[in-house]
Amino acid sequence: MRIDKVYVENQMNPIGMDTRRPTFDWRLSADEKQTVQVAYQITVEDNDQEVWDSGRVESADSVAIAYAGVALEPSTRYRVGVTVWDNHGNQAVSNAWFETGLLSGENFQARWITFDQQDDETACPVFRKKFDAPKKVTSARVYASALGVYEIKLNGQKVGDHYFAPGWTNYHKRLQYQTYGLEDLLYEENSIELTVGNGWYKGIFGFTMQPNIYGNQVAALAEIHLNYEDGTKEIIETDETWQVEYGSIRSSEIYLGEVQDTTFQRTFAGTARITEYPRENMVAQESEPVRITKRFPAVSYIETPKGEKVLDFGQNLSGFVSFKVKGEKGQQITIKHAETLDKDGNFYPDTLRQATSHDVYVLNGELQTLCPHFTFHGFRYIAIEGLDNIVKEDFVACVMHTDMQQTGTFACSHAGINQLQSNIEWGQRGNFLDIPTDCPQRDERLGWTGDAQIFSNTAMFNFQSQRFFQKWLRDLASEQTVEHGVPHVVPNILGNQDGAAAWSDAATIIPWNLYLNYGDKTVLEQQYASMKGWVDYITSKVSANGLWQTGFQYGDWLALDKEESSDRTGATDRYFVANAYYLHSLDILRQAAAIIGEEADAEHYDSLHHEVLAQFQSEYITGTGRLVSETQTACVLALHFNLIQEEHRARILKTLIVNLAEHKNHLSTGFVGTPYLCHVLSENGEHELATKVFLQEDYPSWLYAVNKGATTIWERWNSILPDGSFDESGMNSLNHYAYGSIGDWMYRKLAGINPLAPGYKKIKIAPMLTKGLTWLDASYNTAYGKVRSAWKCESGMISIDIEIPANTTAVVILPEKADQLELGSGKYHYEYATETDLRIAKYSLESTLEFILSDAYAVELFDQLAPGMLENPLISFAHKMTITELIAVMPPEGAELYYFVINKLNEKEKLRESD
Ligand code: BGC
Repeated sequence: MRIDKVYVENQMNPIGMDTRRPTFDWRLSADEKQTVQVAYQITVEDNDQEVWDSGRVESADSVAIAYAGVALEPSTRYRVGVTVWDNHGNQAVSNAWFETGLLSGENFQARWITFDQQDDETACPVFRKKFDAPKKVTSARVYASALGVYEIKLNGQKVGDHYFAPGWTNYHKRLQYQTYGLEDLLYEENSIELTVGNGWYKGIFGFTMQPNIYGNQVAALAEIHLNYEDGTKEIIETDETWQVEYGSIRSSEIYLGEVQDTTFQRTFAGTARITEYPRENMVAQESEPVRITKRFPAVSYIETPKGEKVLDFGQNLSGFVSFKVKGEKGQQITIKHAETLDKDGNFYPDTLRQATSHDVYVLNGELQTLCPHFTFHGFRYIAIEGLDNIVKEDFVACVMHTDMQQTGTFACSHAGINQLQSNIEWGQRGNFLDIPTDCPQRDERLGWTGDAQIFSNTAMFNFQSQRFFQKWLRDLASEQTVEHGVPHVVPNILGNQDGAAAWSDAATIIPWNLYLNYGDKTVLEQQYASMKGWVDYITSKVSANGLWQTGFQYGDWLALDKEESSDRTGATDRYFVANAYYLHSLDILRQAAAIIGEEADAEHYDSLHHEVLAQFQSEYITGTGRLVSETQTACVLALHFNLIQEEHRARILKTLIVNLAEHKNHLSTGFVGTPYLCHVLSENGEHELATKVFLQEDYPSWLYAVNKGATTIWERWNSILPDGSFDESGMNSLNHYAYGSIGDWMYRKLAGINPLAPGYKKIKIAPMLTKGLTWLDASYNTAYGKVRSAWKCESGMISIDIEIPANTTAVVILPEKADQLELGSGKYHYEYATETDLRIAKYSLESTLEFILSDAYAVELFDQLAPGMLENPLISFAHKMTITELIAVMPPEGAELYYFVINKLNEKEKLRESD
C-alpha cells in the first residue's frame, strides 16, 4: 500500500492558501486486493514546531479531513505528514506542504493605487516601481490584485502563468487576490510592472455593451515580501511612489479584442493616487487559475470564395492566437475570429453578435511573437488581414480555461459517440473560464445559472470541478437578493432578477452534486444559508394552494414542442416545471439539513415537501394518472424527481414512450428535460429506447451536430440546418454546453459508474450493454482514485474489466448476470458467453426518408433506379416519414426499391467501418 498523493484543499503543495481549517485528502494505491485504510495520523509543523497532531485515528476516512490544530499564521509554510495503516497490516507515510497567504484582506499593508485617466484614453495603464533586493533571498512572494484584469512582469518577464487574474466576482462584495513566487526572476536591481486591462470590471460588457459595470477607474494592489537568508524581511508595496505609464496595449476589451502598437514608446500617464477598496471583501484565489492549457498550430489555410485569408484550427475553442511575424515597421495586421464558415465556405462571424473579437497589431519591423493579454475569443477559424504570406505553422491556437485536472475518460466502438464525448469536453474547456459561462464567443459569456446546473454532473465526471464550482457558489450566495432570490446570471450584471426555476435551483443542486461526487460535506455547510434562503424564497412566493404559480419562468428553455416565435420556453406548463424544481430543491434541502445536523430544519423541510407534493399531485396529475402537460419533459421530471404516486408511474412512463414514438423516437426536450430523459428510460426498463434516442443521427439528436462536423456542443439542436444554413434568431452559439449534459448518462448508465456513498467511498458499477456499441471503456478518477468500467460484447462473448480504487468497496452488477458481487479494491476481469449481438445497421425501415437522403449515395441510387422521383414535389411530404410508414402507403413494387437502397447504404457503412 502506498500514499500516491496528498492534497491540501484539493491542491498539491499550494501557496497563497487562506483557508483557516484546510482539509486534507490522500490517494492510496495497493497491489493487494481488498485494501482499506483502518487508521490514519496527520501532523502539521511550522519550522519544526508542531501545530497539529491528529494522533492515530481509527478511521477509514481519507477524504476532506479538516485541520484542527492551533490557528495558522499568515505567509507561513507548513509541512504535512500523513501516516496510514491498512487492513493487511501495512503502513505508509507521505509528506506534503502548504503555504498560507495573507489569511485576510485586512493583512494587506499595501495601498490600492489608481490614477486619473482621461475619458477618451483607452490604453491599459502600467503601474511601475523599481526596487533592490540587496541580500540573498530565501523566498520572495508577491500578493496582488486589481480592479480590472492584471498581468505582472518582473524585469520584463511575466510572473506566474495566470490569465484574467483576479478573476470575475461581484467586485463590490468579493475580490480575489493571487500569490506568486518571484525567486526565479529576481535580481539585485529590479523593476516590477502591473499592467491592468478593463476586463469585467470596467470593460464593455453585457447585452447593452455598456462600459464601467463595476467602476470607472482601474486600480492595482501589490505587496512584495522578500525574505532574506539572514532572517530579515522587506516589504515593497503599492503606494504613491509608483509611476503610471501607457504602453503598447492601446485598448483591450473582452468582447471587442485587443489593439497593440508595438512601435509605441511608453508615455507618462500620471502619478499614482491612493484609492480605497474594502479589505474585508478580499479573498485568496479560490479556484484553479485560468491558464493556457494547450497550444496547437492551424490545420489548414483556406482562401475563401470572397477572397478572405483564413486559417482553420480544426477545433472550436476559447483562447487566442499567438503568431510569429517579421514585417515592416508600422505594418498593421488584424486577426478576426469566427466559429464557422458559411455554406459557401466564407468566413462567418455572425454567431459572435456584437462581440467583434478583432485583435489588431502594429508591427515594429523585427521578428516578433504576438498575442493579446486581456481578451479571449471563442473560435475555430481566423481571418488575417494585412499579411501577404501566411505560413500556417506560424499561428498557434492557445486554449485557455480554468486549469482543472481531467478526471474522466470515455471511449467506445462508435466513432460518432467518441466525437460527441470530445465535443462535451471541449464545451467544458471553452466555458469554464473562471466562471461557468453559457458560451464563450458572443456578447454574452455570462454565468447563466441554469446552464451550469444542467451540466454540473457531467462536468464533474470530465474534469475536477470542485474548487471551480465552490468559488462560483460563493459568488452565487453573494449575489442573492435581500429576499434570497437567486439571479439568473452569476455574477449578476443583468440587474434585479430574483428567481426562476431550474436556473436559480443551481443554489441547491450544485452543492448537492458536489457533495455526492466529492464526499466533502463542508460544501453543504458553507452553502447551507444560500440553499435554505433560495427554498424559503420560493415558499414566500407560493399562492394559497401552496404552489409557485406566479412570475417569470424559462420553462423548458428551447424545447422543440412549441413554436419558438412565441417565447422559447417550450410546451411544458412552466409552473409545472417551477413546482417540480421546488420539490426537487426541497428534497435536497431536507437531506442536506440532516447531513449537517440541522435536525429541526430537516424535519421542517421534510413535512413541507410532503405538503407541496400533495398539492402538486392534486394540481398536475389526474386521478387516473395523466399529467396536465403530457410533454416529454413533464413525464421525465415527474418520474425523475419522484413526483408521482407509485400506482401512476407505469402510465406516465407509457405516455413518455408514446410521445417519443410520435416523434419517431426523437427527443423534443429543451434545457430542462434533456439531462434526465435517457436516465428515466434506462432506469425504468427502457434502456433500449434510451439508446435509440441517443443514437439517432438526424435532427433532433446529439449525433446530428456531430455528423454536421461539430467539434463542440451547439446551443440548439439545429444551430446549423440540414442545408448548411444557420438559425438566424440571433441566439446561435456553436459552443454551449447545456445539451452536453448527456455525458452524465453516458458515464452512469453506459459505463455504469455511480456513487453509492458520497465521494464514491462505496461504488456501484453496473454497465449496461447497449445496442449500437460493441465495446466501451470509461474511467473516472474519484476522490479515492480511479474507477474503471470496460465492456466488450463481440462474437458471442462478453468480457468485462473493472478497477476499484483502494479504500473503497463496490457493488458490481454484470450484464446478463442475476447476482450482485460485493468487491473490494483491485482489478477484476470476467468473461462469459452470450447470445447477444449488439451490432445494428445504421439505416433501417425505421429511418426517415430525410435521414436516408442525407447520404449522397442514397440520392445517387434513387436517381439511377427511379429517375425523376426525387424531383417530384410530392416527395417533400414524405421526408419526415419512416420507410415503414412510406411503404404502407405505396404499391408493393415501390417497397423493393427502398429495401435495396437501405441494403446498399448499410453495405457501404460496413465497408467504411472496416477501412
Ligand atoms: C443563454 C442561455 C441561457 C438563457 C436563459 C441565453 O441567452 O445563452 O444559455 O440559459 O439565455 O434564457
